[in-house]
Amino acid sequence: MRLQGRRAVVTGAASGLGEATIRRFHAEGARVVVADLDGARAEAVARSLDAEGRTAASLACDITDPRQCDDMVVAAEAILGGPIDIFHANAGMAFSGGLLDAEDARIERAIAVNLTGTVFSARAALRSLVRGGGVLLFTSSLQGVTARPERSVYTATKHAVTGLVKSLSLEFGPQGVRVNALAPVGIDTPLLRLQLARSSADPDAAIATMAAGLPLRRMPTQRDFADAALFLASDEARCITGQTLVIDCGASAGIMPAAGAAR
Ligand SMILES: NC(=O)c1ccc[n+]([C@@H]2O[C@H](COP(=O)([O-])OP(=O)(O)OC[C@H]3O[C@@H](n4cnc5c(N)ncnc54)[C@H](O)[C@@H]3O)[C@@H](O)[C@H]2O)c1
Repeated sequence: MRLQGRRAVVTGAASGLGEATIRRFHAEGARVVVADLDGARAEAVARSLDAEGRTAASLACDITDPRQCDDMVVAAEAILGGPIDIFHANAGMAFSGGLLDAEDARIERAIAVNLTGTVFSARAALRSLVRGGGVLLFTSSLQGVTARPERSVYTATKHAVTGLVKSLSLEFGPQGVRVNALAPVGIDTPLLRLQLARSSADPDAAIATMAAGLPLRRMPTQRDFADAALFLASDEARCITGQTLVIDCGASAGIMPAAGAAR
């Protein structure tokens, strides 16, 4: 029960990594608000955690709208009964494919969700976090510290999150707020499958190939990501701020020779 009694909010918590994280936080004793663009799925997740709604509730919020972010934080404080202790700005969307083929609206939406909306939600949360000296987490990506082709706009937004973490940790450290990011390599979620569907006819085979190319010969699971989020949210990380924690089964350590290649 490492988060006993903490008040936690995760955005994008109706699916994938956000859902895994909110479930982990709740299992460790936090009272949680499941925030997501998809209010119905967010409500289903909250109900599955606590059918009576005493320890889990949901809020519909589009993070690209600053008013909705502000309202979401005010509503979360009312539901949880005080300032937020842990806010995880996790909501994000995929952007893949060549830049020359990308429609204007797709570029603008990816930046709006992954960068502008991430800033809006973090700003709203910080107004609450400063009152109790809380923890702000972001979901960046391995593509927030390195890059791969045909992910240009996604990579740019996630590099921006890495910078945001550094600047905000300096700005809010004196008020007792810790700010960190998680940077995972591909993890099997609806977002990854959507991304792979653009370039691969067989996403299962593409995922198996990705896993085989990593030094640990496996990809992180959603639980692996949630465990890292739990660590950064917990008191065990009390001296860690301004950091982007890479969760990549060794991918960023160097160049891994292909199986059977000359060494
Ligand atoms: N899955 C991966 O391989 C991977 C790797 C690196 C980083 N990430 C990052 O992890 C985060 C979560 O991704 P996931 O894989 O769990 O994806 P997912 O698609 O399973 O979940 C994303 C959630 O965010 C919500 N969302 C999208 N736009 C929103 C908005 N405007 N306002 C509020 N909520 C919104 C969606 O409704 C969805 O529930 C994202 O920031 C993503 O960039 C994922």
